[in-house]
Amino acid sequence: MDARRYILASCQLLCTATRPNRALFLHGIVHRSDRISVAAARYSSHFTAEELPHQRPKVTLNTIKSLYKRNIPIASLTAHDFPSGIVADRAGVDLVLVGDSLAMVALGYDNTNQITMDEMLSHCRAVARGSKAPFLVADLPFGTYEVSPEQALESSIRLIREAKMEGVKLEGGIEMAATIKKITTAGIPVIGHIGLTPQRSASLGGFRVQARTATGARKLLRSAQALQEAGCFAIILEAVPAPVAKFVTQALTIPTIGIGAGNQCSGQVLVQLDMLGSFDRFTPKFVKKYADAFETNSAAIAEYVRDVKERSFPGEEHAYSMRNEDDIKKLEEMDIATAKVSSSGM
Ligand code: KIV
Repeated sequence: MDARRYILASCQLLCTATRPNRALFLHGIVHRSDRISVAAARYSSHFTAEELPHQRPKVTLNTIKSLYKRNIPIASLTAHDFPSGIVADRAGVDLVLVGDSLAMVALGYDNTNQITMDEMLSHCRAVARGSKAPFLVADLPFGTYEVSPEQALESSIRLIREAKMEGVKLEGGIEMAATIKKITTAGIPVIGHIGLTPQRSASLGGFRVQARTATGARKLLRSAQALQEAGCFAIILEAVPAPVAKFVTQALTIPTIGIGAGNQCSGQVLVQLDMLGSFDRFTPKFVKKYADAFETNSAAIAEYVRDVKERSFPGEEHAYSMRNEDDIKKLEEMDIATAKVSSSGM
């Protein structure tokens, strides 16, 4: 065995021994003048999370606090699965929220209250596999935290332990303070969520802007202060007038993350699928569409369908060749009629 083959064989052995299921196979050793480099080729579109390059420092609670102290807006975004987790990470998002908006925008439920803890756990795990640097927070699904502070703590522990989340978010104002205290006392970071709280949209009379009066604004502030007191590290303000959000933000010593709350909050959050323009249907007024994914994706898929129908896809560049040219001839010489008969078992 020459040196080149020996190194290749050793690398393959090592690869198989350490990662038996890896879809990445060592393909060859390329000799360069001063070094030997290992060229890798993939034979499957499946890949493992270990293959993702880890590109930037991990965002921790201290990073969030430091951004807030330095008055640098905290960029938050939802992710609901592995690819959306990766893209949020790569694009520099500070905080990734596996929000229960997942229920409506990714799973097609009528409202956010339909999603179960098991579904949430599964999606959180996928996001965590793709999103390495951002601080990861998951929504406590409806029905998993309202019964008692103990229930809320147990559900939070599941999201942390079983789904690699780093914090949880829950909806509700002053009435949730004891629940939040229970969770934060156990060392789990919590984001509060007040203003428009989709899980309670029925009792709010629908998806409506909140705190539009001075009385409403005072009530919102009282809730925000109670949540801060209970140990929240941040509070989401959803669909409240910009001046109210600014007022609440100035009154707190923890960051506010706005969604439909003007630009004076300590940070912003949007639903990723909404801001990418993934739907050709209604999106709320506060969503800025940064792309038109629906249009782009539809056009790409229509082109693919056309290519398939016309047999212009796959092209030669997407197909595998045979190892040996002679074998093509052997194939051509085979009797198709006999092959058909024998494979159908007749
Ligand atoms: O569920 C969610 O995605 C949310 C954000 C929009 C704040 O709660």
